[in-house]
Amino acid sequence: MTSRNDSRTEPPWTPDSWRTFPARQMPEYPDPERLRAVESQLASYPPLVFAGEVRNLRAALAAAAAGDAFVLQGGDCAESFAEFHPDNIRDTFRVLLQMAVVLTFGGACPVVKIGRLAGQFAKPRSAPTEARGEVELPAYRGDIVNGIEFDAGARTPDPERMLRAYLQSASTLNLLRALAQGGYAHLHRVHRWSLDFVSDTPQAQRYRALADRIQESLDFMEACGVTAATTPAVHRTAFYTSHEALLLGYEQALTRIDSTTGDWYDNSAHLLWIGDRTRQPDGAHVEFLRGVGNPIGLKVGPGITTDALIRLIEHLNPANDPGRLMLIARMGADSVRERLAPLVRAVEREGRTVVWVCDPMHANIIKSASGYKTRVFDRVLAEVQGFFEVHRAEGTHAGGIHVEMTGQNVTECVGGVQALSEDELAGRYHTHCDPRLNASQSIEIAFRIAQMLREERDRRRGRPNGGSRPADLWS
Ligand code: PEP
Ligand code: CO
Repeated sequence: MTSRNDSRTEPPWTPDSWRTFPARQMPEYPDPERLRAVESQLASYPPLVFAGEVRNLRAALAAAAAGDAFVLQGGDCAESFAEFHPDNIRDTFRVLLQMAVVLTFGGACPVVKIGRLAGQFAKPRSAPTEARGEVELPAYRGDIVNGIEFDAGARTPDPERMLRAYLQSASTLNLLRALAQGGYAHLHRVHRWSLDFVSDTPQAQRYRALADRIQESLDFMEACGVTAATTPAVHRTAFYTSHEALLLGYEQALTRIDSTTGDWYDNSAHLLWIGDRTRQPDGAHVEFLRGVGNPIGLKVGPGITTDALIRLIEHLNPANDPGRLMLIARMGADSVRERLAPLVRAVEREGRTVVWVCDPMHANIIKSASGYKTRVFDRVLAEVQGFFEVHRAEGTHAGGIHVEMTGQNVTECVGGVQALSEDELAGRYHTHCDPRLNASQSIEIAFRIAQMLREERDRRRGRPNGGSRPADLWS
């Protein structure tokens, strides 16, 4: 099989060429026959997304690469079978929309909305096994691979789980499409929810000024005749899905040729990313993703060198296509300034077009005294601040944010206006993997980032002191 994706100087790519490359973080299935049978069954199932939508996302990301849009990517660290419920999907979607409204207003630029949803199941682990006392079992690798319960049966990788994950992804995506297109995403309504956040928490009064400005603008637009009836964007929104392309057999099974262009697309999600643990230039994950037409995310952790990063960029985006590559930096609040700046500089020097996105979650994990994996809100915020500072100093665009969050009122990350304490973590600690920002913490971080974005916009427009806006509005 050939396609236009093959016309490059690299060795030929096929959906299964990754199989001859070393693949880290892949489960060992005890029954390879059953695995093959499940993979071919999946290959006969309908695609979850369509190439035209994927190309729309590439165009939106190209705008972000040019400094004309901001990416908001968020959702669970790991989706689970247990938390599969329409309310969970709706609430996470709703909080993402609230964040997007705040950011759109703050940055005065379009926000590209991408969920870590409808397929974010497979997890890389730091150790292949987990020991409790005398017992050692395979590590939990996400519900698409094995079960979280600590017993030998649950922890044995089971290919049937891929079918269940596919079906859950399909129905999650179905609801997301309905919510995004069917009136739920009405701008006025979404903003009213954000006002609730502000009034519920006395400490959050500082956000009131921004919230009131958004309301005024919406009223003004309506008075000018910009309503849902005249402007579909008032009540509908484009919403994309993404996940880490870790379980390559699953991804391959959903990779199909687009009949209109003859190109290959991974139809399991609009955007796929490569994790920090599987980004070896000669590894299977990089090989797989280089051949599909989707936009790709690449996690960039503190261990990467500038040379390695440039090589990966050249390999994944040889044509230097502006909407193709999103670099998701996850450096840690303490090292972001020092580590990110040389990378941004090298990318600029090489004339490579990328979207820089900040993941302030994955290098800011600590263990609480009571043993919970948690994140401190102020450290998360500090990494975002460092990220914006680096881009300001380098004259580049802080292109987006990648957060682990949920619409539920969980108690997994400490701090924020709710001042969630370590003692409260046990109350509603529900995550199957990393701790997520809850609804309130997510909206709060959006308000803070909106301020940073506004400052960036003012600088770009030559209004270093914020133009004629009331001075106290953004303080
Ligand atoms: C993740 O995004 O859940 C993850 C595992 O990230 P990273 O690859 O950056 O560690
Ligand atoms: Co995570």
